[in-house]
Amino acid sequence: MRLPENIIGKILEVINMSDLTWRTVRLHRKKLNRLQKNLRALSHDFAHRTASADKFSDAYFAYNFPMNLAKIRIVVLQLQHLYPQVFEHLTEFRICDIGCGEGAGMLGIYYGLQEFRKLRFSGFDTSPQMLRKCKDMMRWLKNGDARVQVRLQQQNMSHGLLKKKVAKYDIVILANSLTEMFTDGAIPVNFIERLLKSCTDNGVIIVLEPATKNLSRRLMTLRNDIINRQKGQVLLPCLHSEMCPLIDIRKQKDWCHQSILWDPPDYMNILNQGLNREINRLKFSYLVIAQKNFPRHDFNAFLVISDLLKEKGKKRCFLCTPTGRVELMRFNKLKCPTNSEFDKILKGDIISFKNVAQTKPQYWQITEDTQIGISVSKNI
Ligand SMILES: C[S@@+](CC[C@H](N)C(=O)[O-])C[C@H]1O[C@@H](n2cnc3c(N)ncnc32)[C@H](O)[C@@H]1O
Repeated sequence: MRLPENIIGKILEVINMSDLTWRTVRLHRKKLNRLQKNLRALSHDFAHRTASADKFSDAYFAYNFPMNLAKIRIVVLQLQHLYPQVFEHLTEFRICDIGCGEGAGMLGIYYGLQEFRKLRFSGFDTSPQMLRKCKDMMRWLKNGDARVQVRLQQQNMSHGLLKKKVAKYDIVILANSLTEMFTDGAIPVNFIERLLKSCTDNGVIIVLEPATKNLSRRLMTLRNDIINRQKGQVLLPCLHSEMCPLIDIRKQKDWCHQSILWDPPDYMNILNQGLNREINRLKFSYLVIAQKNFPRHDFNAFLVISDLLKEKGKKRCFLCTPTGRVELMRFNKLKCPTNSEFDKILKGDIISFKNVAQTKPQYWQITEDTQIGISVSKNI
């Protein structure tokens, strides 16, 4: 996955580094040093649970904004593939971005949607600083595409109430904003319930959070609470509606999160010199939540929730299934053309297969009779 060139160009224009390339790095050294210093400060504040995206907004915009945009784009692409009914019969999409910041969520949807006639975006944020940049970005988008309409508002959204008079939304996004709205304890289900009331029948809420253990486990708990209290359905990342199989295994040390390879823009690689962060992976946790009567269908497929683990004489990975976490294993000597796709699987892929040997309930073996295929890959 690569970001479209026009958005990369626009980001560079906003941070006043339009001509930044590997050859011109020296000319921008001072600005790059300042951005790096602010990125370190952002990380420090994040680790100490202090929100400072608007204080270091240039650094957040140069570094977090493109990654957050790409993450939302990946989720939307996957959603269209697996649940086309969310997007069917829509001539006009209404999208609400809560804690929109500079607009990464809205732009992620724009670049992820494969077809649309009209897009109406509503962005809400408490920070005038973030909204100012968002206005610039969304004006740029609107000027280039007459199908786009945008309304931005400075508003505290922690009550989860959206105006009743406004037509309902097809997508509500909360990208990295829940963590700032609810700093402690569980995320209240009634907050999500209120937002669902502002969604259309087939509308969805996309919640995206950083991939830390604590924040990801909060989403896992939220998912279980929504299902237990029958307030809605969770369509993704899990392909089933049973309790999360990861929540209690390994003494609650596990957390469900995505780690997806992408191709960051060159300028991010330049910025990363000296910071040495793992920027070629997009790491996040997320939920896609729908109404409780959303017409969900069964998948004969499973989500891969680990990397492919290569060991002496065998390869294995873990799957999320309705009956719990399952280990899927193949001895190297049993590799054959029908099961060779197993070697290509990556964390986050959705795979389907026939004829695995279920030697134990949580332990499945690939044999020479197994046919295996990758149905959907997030690594696009
Ligand atoms: C970490 S930033 C995320 C921005 C953007 N969604 C993204 O993913 O890049 C969190 C944003 O949520 C906003 N925010 C925090 N609490 C809020 C609240 N109660 N109501 C509206 N916005 C809020 C902050 O001002 C900030 O812009």
